[in-house]
Amino acid sequence: MLDRFPVSAGDYDGPVLVTGAGGCIGSWVLALLRRAGVPCAAFDLVEDRRRPRLLMSDADLDRVTWHTGDISDTRRVREVVETSGARAIVHLAGLQVPFCKADPVAGAQVNVVGTVNVFEAARAAGIRRVAYASSIGALGAFPDSRWGATLYGAYKYCNEQTAKVYWLDWKVPSVGFRPGVVYGVGRDQGQTSKTTVALLATVLGQPYTIPFTGPVSWLHAGEAASAFLKAVSRDGHGAPVFDINGESATVEDGIARLRAIEPGAKVACEGGTLPYPMDLPDEPLRAYLGDYGRIGIEEGMRATLAAFRDLVARGQLDGSRVN
Ligand SMILES: NC(=O)c1ccc[n+]([C@@H]2O[C@H](COP(=O)([O-])OP(=O)(O)OC[C@H]3O[C@@H](n4cnc5c(N)ncnc54)[C@H](O)[C@@H]3O)[C@@H](O)[C@H]2O)c1
Repeated sequence: MLDRFPVSAGDYDGPVLVTGAGGCIGSWVLALLRRAGVPCAAFDLVEDRRRPRLLMSDADLDRVTWHTGDISDTRRVREVVETSGARAIVHLAGLQVPFCKADPVAGAQVNVVGTVNVFEAARAAGIRRVAYASSIGALGAFPDSRWGATLYGAYKYCNEQTAKVYWLDWKVPSVGFRPGVVYGVGRDQGQTSKTTVALLATVLGQPYTIPFTGPVSWLHAGEAASAFLKAVSRDGHGAPVFDINGESATVEDGIARLRAIEPGAKVACEGGTLPYPMDLPDEPLRAYLGDYGRIGIEEGMRATLAAFRDLVARGQLDGSRVN
C-alpha cells in the first residue's frame, strides 16, 4: 500500500522530524519517508515502536533516530529540533477526545503548549516547512457552530489561531490539517477508531459492534500521512488550514461493503451519530497540494484486512486489541 503514495526524496532539503511518530498517522509518515529514502527523525513520549513496526521492517525502523520527550517540554522540543537537524516538521503528537476529557490540563499541555513549542522551535531554527494536525473537532469550537463542542476541539482551534499568529508576527509558515475519521493499520485508540477495530475483529473472526451510526468519513491513514508529507515537500507561505475527509459513507454502508468483501463479517453498529461533519470536500486541499494519492473505501478495507491478516499470522497483533 505504501507504493500508492507519491513521496519523493528529491522534494526534501533535509531531515523531517515527526512528532507523535509512535501513533497511527505518525507511523504511516515514518514508513512513507523511509520507503522514499528521506532522512527522518521521530519524537514521542516513549520509545514504543509497536505501531511503526506494523508498517516497516526492523531494518528500516533502525534507520529512524528516535527521540523521546514530552512535547509540552519547551526546552526538550527545541533541543530535538536542533539535534535532529530538521528542515521540516510534521507535528502529530496529541491527546485525542477522550483523553482531553479525562484530563483537561494534560490535554491543554500536550495539545496547546506542545503545539506552541513546535512553532517556537521552528521559529528559532528558521524552519519553513511545518505541517500540523488540527481536527474536524475544531469546527465545534467555531462561534455559533452546530457541531459538537469538546475541549479537544477547543485546543485544536487554538492551534489554528496559534499558527496564524506565528505567520503574521514571525513569518513562520505552516499548513494545518483537519482530518475526519482516519482508519487503517495502527488506528487503535480514540473515539473514532472503531471502524478500524471492526476490521480487525473481522480478521479475528470476532463479533463487533461499532458504537456509532450514520455518516462517517473514511480517510485512509496512508492518504492522510501522504498529505502531511506533501505539505512539507516545499517551503510554506501563510498558515492555511484544510479539511481532509477521504470518502464519505455511513457506518451502515461501510458494514455492507465490508460484508461484500468478507461475507462472514459479524459487524453491527448502534448508538447515535458522530457530532462532526463527515462529508467535507477535499478539493481545496488537493488544489493546494497537488496529488498525494487517493484510496477508496473498498480498496482501503481490502488492504487493511490483508495487512491485519498478515500481522496476526506473524503474531504482531492479537485479540486483545479488540475492545
Ligand atoms: N486519527 C484520527 O482520526 C484523527 C482525526 C483528526 C485529528 N487527528 C490528530 O492527528 C494527530 C495524530 O493522530 P493519531 O491518530 O496518529 O493519534 P495517536 O493517538 O495514534 O498518536 C498520538 C501520538 O502522540 C504521542 N503523544 C501523546 N502525548 C505526547 C507528549 N506529551 N509528548 C510527545 N508525544 C506525545 C502518543 O504517544 C502517540 O504516539 C493527533 O494530533 C490527532 O489529534 C487524528
